[in-house]
Amino acid sequence: MTRPNLQIALDHNTLESALANVTKVGDIVDILEVGTILCLQEGNQAIRCIKEIFPEKKIVADTKCADAGGTVAKNVADAGADWMTVICCATLPTMEAAKKEVEELQVELYGDWTFEQAESWRAIGIKQAIYHQSRDALLSGETWGEKDLTKVKKLIELGFNVSVTGGLNVETLKLFEGIDVYTFITGRGITAAKDPVQAANDFKNEIVRIWGE
Ligand code: 5RP
Repeated sequence: MTRPNLQIALDHNTLESALANVTKVGDIVDILEVGTILCLQEGNQAIRCIKEIFPEKKIVADTKCADAGGTVAKNVADAGADWMTVICCATLPTMEAAKKEVEELQVELYGDWTFEQAESWRAIGIKQAIYHQSRDALLSGETWGEKDLTKVKKLIELGFNVSVTGGLNVETLKLFEGIDVYTFITGRGITAAKDPVQAANDFKNEIVRIWGE
């Protein structure tokens, strides 16, 4: 089992506040995500700027794209994004068009989706899925549990590299012990911490403790 990556989600309202965080913790994490909120607020300028500061890191544009996949993907790739997200209810043609423009496409699993759909994503060559607890689900009292682990394992069996995200904290990670998670994505667990550098190191150390170097 390989050590899961650590990805920071920059869901800031301004590029300035995102930069204040990412310049401190960017070197600690493996992957940098220009979050949906930041994409909507600051557009591709945020991607351009973060790629310029961290040219060696994978940059994800979390567009959660639902349509015009090829155009959106080309635009974020031109700005410096390596990977991009599409929402799971997007059509296969949207996903196929987006996939051509970026190094890797990730399907964001929200709301209703089926394993039959997941098989069709694999069939068009999509390798990455993001298993998500939405902010709003968490706010309405959802928690991480066995039902999530079962679905994550089944997605891995289908051949996906599965990222896990949504309200994660360091304590949540041990729930996934023994599961070949590809990436843990955390936003506020780092960005809203009193000491973001300490928080990023705590996440990293816990991943290493559980999955090894
Ligand atoms: C919200 C997202 C977030 O970027 C991701 O879930 C991380 O958020 P947090 O750790 O702050 O809950 O994609 O749609």
